[in-house]
Amino acid sequence: MAGRPLHATEAWHLIRQLARSDMIGPYPADSPDGAALTLLGDGSWHLHRDPADAVVADLLACFLPLCHPALAPLVYAQVGQSLDGRIATVTGASHYINGCDGLDHLHRLRAIADVVVVGAGTADSDNPQLTVRRVDGDNPDRAIIDPRRRVSPDQVVFDQSAAPTFRLVHDAPCRADEIQVTCESATVTPADIIRCLQARGYRRIFIEGGGQTVSRFLHAGCLDHLHLIVAPMIIGSGIPALQLPEIDELDGALRPETVPFRLGSDYLFDMRFRPPPA
Ligand SMILES: NC(=O)c1ccc[n+]([C@@H]2O[C@H](COP(=O)([O-])OP(=O)(O)OC[C@H]3O[C@@H](n4cnc5c(N)ncnc54)[C@H](OP(=O)(O)O)[C@@H]3O)[C@@H](O)[C@H]2O)c1
Repeated sequence: MAGRPLHATEAWHLIRQLARSDMIGPYPADSPDGAALTLLGDGSWHLHRDPADAVVADLLACFLPLCHPALAPLVYAQVGQSLDGRIATVTGASHYINGCDGLDHLHRLRAIADVVVVGAGTADSDNPQLTVRRVDGDNPDRAIIDPRRRVSPDQVVFDQSAAPTFRLVHDAPCRADEIQVTCESATVTPADIIRCLQARGYRRIFIEGGGQTVSRFLHAGCLDHLHLIVAPMIIGSGIPALQLPEIDELDGALRPETVPFRLGSDYLFDMRFRPPPA
């Protein structure tokens, strides 16, 4: 590799460009200095410039598998948890478990998404905005899984000025911002939700939380990546991160390929469920 080193701002700009593109080949295509990287049709890439430091190298290694156009459509999730596997206290307080770098990472995950999805529990208890505020980037559209319509329409997320937001419901829509998920059974499954979102043109779907929602998508085999962001904190009680049906033997445990990254005071475990490109 040669040329100027690739710095963090430039690398992030490049990642955002990939997330909005369908093109395989050199990026950026119109750079007077030549391409920084070339994407290959099998989901891999060649870097033409050295990352300026280990943080930039990690940024690329972590986000290129999420943004590579050959790997879309893609579904990824995150969980920000304590060392003892909690995402909130018993009262639902979760602000903030993760440190600054962990939170920046969360906002980056939003910024590359076409749509960010949360369960009714999170929309209800956190009153989240689900916008991109800590890093450069556009707000994704926002979807709330709320078949029972229990989340108040007054929650800030339903303010359509920041980004289009809709409620995913089971039966016929009652309001303009509701979308009916067509189901193959009596309940709304993660696969039904993904089909519904992909049919509306969303190629990069980010399941942000909470624990029940991410667990359902994981159990249904609907995730390509799960980013577990672990903060050096022990809560000791509270809302669990992942909960799957009980197993008796460890043969039944999931053992995904897992790539660790350091995020300041937090640790990120990038679990990759999709088989790597041949
Ligand atoms: N640390 C983090 O990374 C993080 C991230 C997000 C949230 N949180 C915290 O997590 C807590 C909320 O998490 P949670 O696990 O209790 O709830 P949740 O996952 O946000 O929401 C669960 C609810 O969403 C609906 N839902 C989700 N998937 C569904 C499906 N496939 N079909 C039908 N309904 C579905 C159901 O609503 P109904 O019960 O109405 O049917 C379900 O009870 C909050 O305290 C929040 O602060 C933490």
